[in-house]
Amino acid sequence: SAIYTAGAYGHRPVVPTSPDRLEAAARATMTTRARAYVADGAGDQRTAAANLAAFTRHRILPRQLTGTHRRDLTTTLLGRTLPAPLLYAPIGALELAVQHKRGTAGTPRGAEPELARAATRTGVPVIISSQASTPMEDTAALLGDTPRWYQLYWPRSAELTRSLVRRAEDIGAEAIVLTTDTSTLGWRTRDLDLGSLPFVRGEGLAQYLSDPEFQQLAATRATQPAPPAPAPAPRPTLRALATLASLRRHHATRAHVDTFLDTFSDPTLTWPDLARLRDLTDLPILVKGVQTPEDATAALDHGAAGIIVSNHGGRQIDNAIASLDALPAVAHAARAHTPHTPVLFDSGIRTGADTFVALALGADAVLLGRPWVYGLALAGADGVHAVTQHVLAELDITMALAGAATLADIGPHTLARHEP
Ligand code: FNR
Repeated sequence: SAIYTAGAYGHRPVVPTSPDRLEAAARATMTTRARAYVADGAGDQRTAAANLAAFTRHRILPRQLTGTHRRDLTTTLLGRTLPAPLLYAPIGALELAVQHKRGTAGTPRGAEPELARAATRTGVPVIISSQASTPMEDTAALLGDTPRWYQLYWPRSAELTRSLVRRAEDIGAEAIVLTTDTSTLGWRTRDLDLGSLPFVRGEGLAQYLSDPEFQQLAATRATQPAPPAPAPAPRPTLRALATLASLRRHHATRAHVDTFLDTFSDPTLTWPDLARLRDLTDLPILVKGVQTPEDATAALDHGAAGIIVSNHGGRQIDNAIASLDALPAVAHAARAHTPHTPVLFDSGIRTGADTFVALALGADAVLLGRPWVYGLALAGADGVHAVTQHVLAELDITMALAGAATLADIGPHTLARHEP
């Protein structure tokens, strides 16, 4: 209600409250490369669009005189009470989104420090990306008591895997999110057309560059004959010079980049391999990227503690099923396998009303993705904080108007199917 009162008295919010205006404003400030990497999806953007369109097929039923003058948004996940059914999705290479900004005086500049500062104010857990632009230890140091999870792309190297998981345990991560939908990067047409995948410039490699096992792998690789490089341009192009300068800034070399590209994700893995990760850590493992009941069942058969229904924001297979359309059957299969399995959802959450719909269709909580990045791009920690407040305020208002005093009151009975 504070947001509403401020608005009524003429104060403008830190960032736009409408998701479309938020995205438009952020796009306008970001560089071309950041727009391509952050805002765009795979291929022809069909799944990225379908993720959003799917929400319009479910309409919330308003309810009257239900006495919902007080709402409780708290929830318990993996034994922790959270202020709301919301987490910050893991997002990699985010230094791109803040490249046009200067850091707040006297504080470390960068995406994750800003996110961490916002999270200490909102209490919303942070899922630290494998491809963050800040070593996880530095982010964790700014998080105070705010819960943090660690997102893992499972490397080909067993030593590197062990090292990353150990570091996650050491920074107090309460869960490992194993992202399984990225055995290879998707067909990212905008990045490809710009010739500017962030990793090739050393962006989003901080987790690896700060890892002794990774440095060891890169050192070994540097002694091996280099793979044939594409034919060099007759004169160095501006882009090639920018890449070299960026690598230097990141204390990274071609060998680091090649090692990352080789090792970041092991495409040979199958479900039984999950036992090896289970053996490495006592932390609960949530599998992120599940879109079918079969994969939900397989993940739980092999020791996953929870499921994250996600299609990576439409960044992997283009023309894949909208994540919201996958949710009901996946949630059903997960709970038929093990009652009370945590089922989280992402890919398309833009508003509090979207959050309500995802909860009604079976999610225990949702991950906020691009919107927090847009807040970050526009106003750093204050922007992430504002976006979070907007989503939670709208969820709270929607609950009031739909007759839900608690999250347990949100279910399929609160929705009507709408065929456009
Ligand atoms: C991502 N996502 C992601 N997921 C992950 O497990 N590790 C990662 O490093 C990243 N990196 C990443 C970068 C960018 C720029 C985006 C937009 C997304 C996927 C992310 O966690 C989440 O699944 C999607 O963002 C959800 O889609 P929406 O709601 O943001 O469209």
